[in-house]
Amino acid sequence: MTAMADPGIRIRRDADLTSLNTFGVRVRAPWLVEAERADALPAAFAAAPLRGATPLVLGSGSNMLFVEAPTMPVLRLTGTDVRILAGEGDTALLYADAGVQWHALVMRSLELGLDGLENLALIPGTVGAAPIQNIGAYGVEVGQRIEAVHAFEPATGRMLRLSAADCAFAYRDSLFKQAPDRFVVTGVEFRLRRGGMPVLGYAGIAEELAARGIVSPRARDVAEAVIAIRRRKLPDPAVIGNAGSFFKNPIVPAAQADALLALHPDMPVFRAAEGQRKLSAAWLIDRLGFKGARDGDAGIAASHALVLVNHGDATGRQLLDFACRVAGAVRAAFGVALEPEPRLVGATWPTEA
Ligand code: FAD
Ligand code: EPU
Repeated sequence: MTAMADPGIRIRRDADLTSLNTFGVRVRAPWLVEAERADALPAAFAAAPLRGATPLVLGSGSNMLFVEAPTMPVLRLTGTDVRILAGEGDTALLYADAGVQWHALVMRSLELGLDGLENLALIPGTVGAAPIQNIGAYGVEVGQRIEAVHAFEPATGRMLRLSAADCAFAYRDSLFKQAPDRFVVTGVEFRLRRGGMPVLGYAGIAEELAARGIVSPRARDVAEAVIAIRRRKLPDPAVIGNAGSFFKNPIVPAAQADALLALHPDMPVFRAAEGQRKLSAAWLIDRLGFKGARDGDAGIAASHALVLVNHGDATGRQLLDFACRVAGAVRAAFGVALEPEPRLVGATWPTEA
């Protein structure tokens, strides 16, 4: 059933979300509301089915596990405007609507001669979701490139422009992740450079560029190297359902990392804040032999130990149960607690996992 409350708003009842989550979990939403323009949001929230409800905001569902079908209405932003707001000297401000596909924005920015997003090429999802967990890859986090986030606050009816400092970006974390459902991100402003300084430090990038015979890489070369590495390592959700890394890399006290290192000298350890270290969740899981393991249609990818996969018809509950088994084994073997990266809908992560 389709109703039109406002020209900028599309409302559907009993909507199939199977193609709107990259795990491919078969769930339906009681309502799906799609808003093309941010200025339609106040009216949308004043009318059924959003009035008095706390909707689940959904982008492409590439960081979401539906353990149960949502009981609340689902809201998507579908605007796709991209424009340069201002150019000052070596830098420019690029604005994109929340509904723009992230990888398309990265490629568009490079076409415009604006550098800075190239290390984040091929990350699935939308621009609106990028600040939620402060997406990161290959040595860059999006918070480093964000000037401001435009958001609607349903509780107050205000349209806000939050500076990057307001957003409290950290590893896979932000104000938005800490206060889920408080804001609907409507667009993002990025501060990008004309002719940047490529970030080449992450393992694998320099090797990939060297293999291509590139000595002085441009941003586009870096994007292509990142795309090639990602295609080799990460399963394509169009082929096998997944949400990228299912667990965050755990941050532990330096003393705990040192004790583990004494027992496992080949364990990768990365710098974190003062007195802390980041461990590799993939290594911990791989070490326990879970790579390629499966129980029914739920399993761990054969190509990357951090990727929970749906081989076909796994339910969200079966995927969560498998993830809990993996986390329980890591805790038992290494004394390290893993936390999921995707948003869980209809369940909370058990603290004992
Ligand atoms: P969704 O999954 O739809 O939503 C994610 C969260 O954001 C939810 O909490 C949702 O409520 C909220 N949200 C979405 N849109 C809005 C909005 N407009 N306003 C308010 N809240 C909103 N992530 C990385 O950081 N680095 C990677 O390298 C990476 N690689 C990946 C590889 C694969 C193969 C896959 C499948 C995923 C990967 N991810 C990675 C995770 C994912 O791509 C990102 O988290 C992405 O930003 C999610 O975008 P989305 O539109 O699909 O968000
Ligand atoms: N490793 C293994 N086994 C594996 C895979 C990796 O032991 O099967 C070890 C290796 O030692 C490797 C190390 O883990 O050197 C790191 O692997 P990788 O470079 O693939 O990075 P990651 O820590 O597994 C993180 C992000 C990814 C991001 C990459 C590249 C998290 C939770 N994940 O993965 O983000 O693309 O770095 O920067 O921080 C995502 O968030 O969904 C995601 C894919």
